Amino acid sequence: MAAANDSTMKYGIIGVGMMGREHLINLHHLRNEGVAVVCIADPHLPSQQLALQLAQSFDWPIKVFTGHKELLDSGLCDVVIVSTPNMTHHQILLDIINHPKSHHVLVEKPLCTTVADCREVVAAARKRPDMLVQVGLEYRYMPPIAKLIEIVKSGILGQVKMVAIREHRFPFLVKVNNWNRFNANSGGTLVEKCCHFFDLMRLFAGANPVRVMASGAIDVNHKDEIYDGKVPDIIDNAYTIVEFDNGTRGMLDLCMFAEGTKNEQEISVVGDIGKGEAFVPESIVRFGTRMGGRDGVQTLKAEDDRIKYDGLHHGSSYLEHLNFLSAIQAKGGQGPAVDLHDGLISVAIGVAAQLSIEKGRFVTLEEVMDEHNLGAS
Ligand SMILES: NC(=O)c1ccc[n+]([C@@H]2O[C@H](COP(=O)([O-])OP(=O)(O)OC[C@H]3O[C@@H](n4cnc5c(N)ncnc54)[C@H](O)[C@@H]3O)[C@@H](O)[C@H]2O)c1
Repeated sequence: MAAANDSTMKYGIIGVGMMGREHLINLHHLRNEGVAVVCIADPHLPSQQLALQLAQSFDWPIKVFTGHKELLDSGLCDVVIVSTPNMTHHQILLDIINHPKSHHVLVEKPLCTTVADCREVVAAARKRPDMLVQVGLEYRYMPPIAKLIEIVKSGILGQVKMVAIREHRFPFLVKVNNWNRFNANSGGTLVEKCCHFFDLMRLFAGANPVRVMASGAIDVNHKDEIYDGKVPDIIDNAYTIVEFDNGTRGMLDLCMFAEGTKNEQEISVVGDIGKGEAFVPESIVRFGTRMGGRDGVQTLKAEDDRIKYDGLHHGSSYLEHLNFLSAIQAKGGQGPAVDLHDGLISVAIGVAAQLSIEKGRFVTLEEVMDEHNLGAS
């Protein structure tokens, strides 16, 4: 058996459903960087067994716990991955942050399901400068998106004015105990799924969001499903407009009954000099300037040689781990690439969008950042 030695960075994974096992496989592909998964925690026997089978095939002897507290108390790991259902992130994060032993944390998106919960985690983490906490907003690392970010940041498109993101895809997958079928568990589609895109908009805009207007509904999916007598309440399509404090406008076009399409994500960023686009999974980036016109548009195939495992997200989980590991190894010299503030703002935009649909009006970020205002109409 390949046991972890003293210099190994020891990881524990809390929640080993679809995404937790994806982290396990990604970390196995990083084994030559000196990482090993030494323990997991999950109350669901089938998830435990599937993770155990994977660990055995990797020759990793792992300890299995049913809850995160036992995993933390075991003192076995230096780093924990939180890949449990969204509504559990808040308490699990607080327990990790308040634990006497210091653990670095990679928490899956969304950070939490509400702004108040995110803020509580941010405040608690402030008291633990010994811990790195990174949020799993991994779309930043997808090669065509990373390339587009680089193009935008180089300034060749000029001052960004408009960011349009289209996600057209398949419906939400079936999850353990169907937690993702209800807003109360997931935070709502525009939080659960779209925090990725609001995070990207903010990166492209290089500014803070001010107000959000959205229109959306459940029109096609999950209408014939019933869990404990309740029909799912998660929307399956929406348009969302986000205004930023530098005048940039973002627009998200989400459709979750659009399997008949080549790309799942199509991103367009237009500045006052030029326009850039990224297409996933075609992995194509296009960019050109107003001066160069249509004939001057360049097309690139985006690739990243560092990726050793493409997995479910086009290599972004692998690069996310590589980045997180390098921040850990920098021992305080480098912050997490995606920090708690990024996690909080991406949730806040999603919460504002969900509320905008409910109220039928613009919702300001100020309104959702101040939890006392949340009931106001
Ligand atoms: N980065 C991405 O693009 C991406 C993609 C999919 C899922 N996710 C996120 O990953 C997380 C997990 O999603 P999933 O698709 O793996 O769901 P899942 O239902 O497949 O797995 C969740 C697992 O967590 C376990 N669990 C529940 N409560 C727990 C607790 N208190 N302690 C330990 N384990 C617990 C469940 O038994 C289950 O095995 C969610 O936050 C989701 O939003 C992110």
